[in-house]
Amino acid sequence: MSNRQVIQNRPTHGGNLVWAAELADCPPSCILDFSASINPLGPPDTAIAAIQAHLDAIKAYPNPAYQHLRDALAEFHDIDSDWILPGNGAAELLTWIGQDLSKLDATVLMRPGFGDYLRALNAFGARVATCSLDVETLFDQQGDNSDLHVQPIPSLDSVLSTAESCAQPSSQAGLLINNPHNPTGLLWTAEAIATCCKSFSQVVVDEAFMDFLPPETQQSLISRIADFPHLVILRSLTKFYSLPGLRIGYAIAHPDTLRRWQRWRDPWPVNALAEAAAIAVLRDRPFQHQTLDWLQKARSQLFQGLAALPQLRPYAGSANFLLVRSHVSVLKLQEYLLKKHRILIRDCLSFDGLGDRYFRAAVRTEAENLALIEGLTEYLSLS
Ligand SMILES: Cc1ncc(COP(=O)(O)O)c(C=O)c1O
Repeated sequence: MSNRQVIQNRPTHGGNLVWAAELADCPPSCILDFSASINPLGPPDTAIAAIQAHLDAIKAYPNPAYQHLRDALAEFHDIDSDWILPGNGAAELLTWIGQDLSKLDATVLMRPGFGDYLRALNAFGARVATCSLDVETLFDQQGDNSDLHVQPIPSLDSVLSTAESCAQPSSQAGLLINNPHNPTGLLWTAEAIATCCKSFSQVVVDEAFMDFLPPETQQSLISRIADFPHLVILRSLTKFYSLPGLRIGYAIAHPDTLRRWQRWRDPWPVNALAEAAAIAVLRDRPFQHQTLDWLQKARSQLFQGLAALPQLRPYAGSANFLLVRSHVSVLKLQEYLLKKHRILIRDCLSFDGLGDRYFRAAVRTEAENLALIEGLTEYLSLS
C-alpha cells in the first residue's frame, strides 16, 4: 500500500499499532503509543500471575453467572452483586445499551464524544440528538492553572434543553454521557448528572476513566445507583489496569435491566482468564496507589511541557490523557512524529467537531512524556 493510502486509511480508534507501524516502517512493538489512553505501569504483576495460575480453567466453560467476579466487584464498590454484569469490555455492554436506547424516541449524545456510542446506537437504528460541547470556549476560558478542579466546568443545561427540544409531549429521551469525558477529560459533578437523571427515561454514564481520579475527587454515581432504576453505569478494566487485549468491563444497573441483556447475549462473553485477572487486579491496592501517584506527577509534567510550546495549548483534563489544541496541522505533525520518532498521537478527525487542530495524548511515564515533548519541540521549531 502506498504511503498516501496508509494515511487515508487512518483508524477511527486509538491504539492501532499495525497502521502506525506501516507508516513508521517498523514493527508495531517499536511504536511509542500515546494514542490509546492505557496505564503505562501495567498490566499489574497480579494480573499476569492470575492468568498463569488459571491456565487450566480454559478447559471448561466459565460459570455464566460469573459469581466470583461479581462478588469481587460488589466488594470493590460496596454494592449488591445482583446489580453488576461483567462484559467483554465496556464495548460489548454498549451494544446492549444501544438496543435499549433504540426503543426510546431519541438519545442525546455529547459532541465530540467516544465514537463507539454511535456504533452501538446505529446497530439498532436508535435516533440520536447531539448536544455540542463548546471545546473552543473550554480552552479559551481556561486559566493558567493546570488543575481541572479550579477550571470552569460547562453546565449540563444544554443537555437538558436538547432533551426538551427533541422530545414531543409524552415522548421518551435517553442520555449517554461520559464522565470524565473523552476526549476533553472534563469532569462533571455526580450531582449535575443526577439532576439529568430526573429528566430522561434512561441515563447511561460511561465511567471508563473514573478510576484514574483519586477516590476523594471521583464523581461516580455508583453509590447512588439504587436511587435511579433507569440509570446504567459502565466501567472498564482496560485503561487503568492496562488490559485492552483481555476484554473486560462491567455494567452497574438495576437487576431487571441486566437480566434482559443476559437473555440477548451469548452465555459466556467473558473468558475464564479475563475473569481471573479481573478478580486479582481489583484486590491489588498497591498497584492502584502506585498508579494514582504516577498520574498526578506525570500528567502535570506533560501538561507543563505542552503548555511551554507556543503553538500548543493543553486542556487541564482530569483523566489520564490531555486534549491539545494546535496552531499547526495535526495530521502533518502526527506523520512527522511517526516517521521520525515512532511516536503515535491520537488525531481527532474521528471526533465530530474537532478536526485537524486538536490531538489527544495519553499520559505515559516521565521519560516517555519527555520523548514526546522533544519530538514536538523539534517539529514545531522547523515549522
Ligand atoms: C470512553 C470510553 N468508553 C469505553 C471504552 C471501551 O472500553 P473497553 O476496552 O472496556 O471496551 C473506551 C475505549 O477507548 C472509551 O474511550
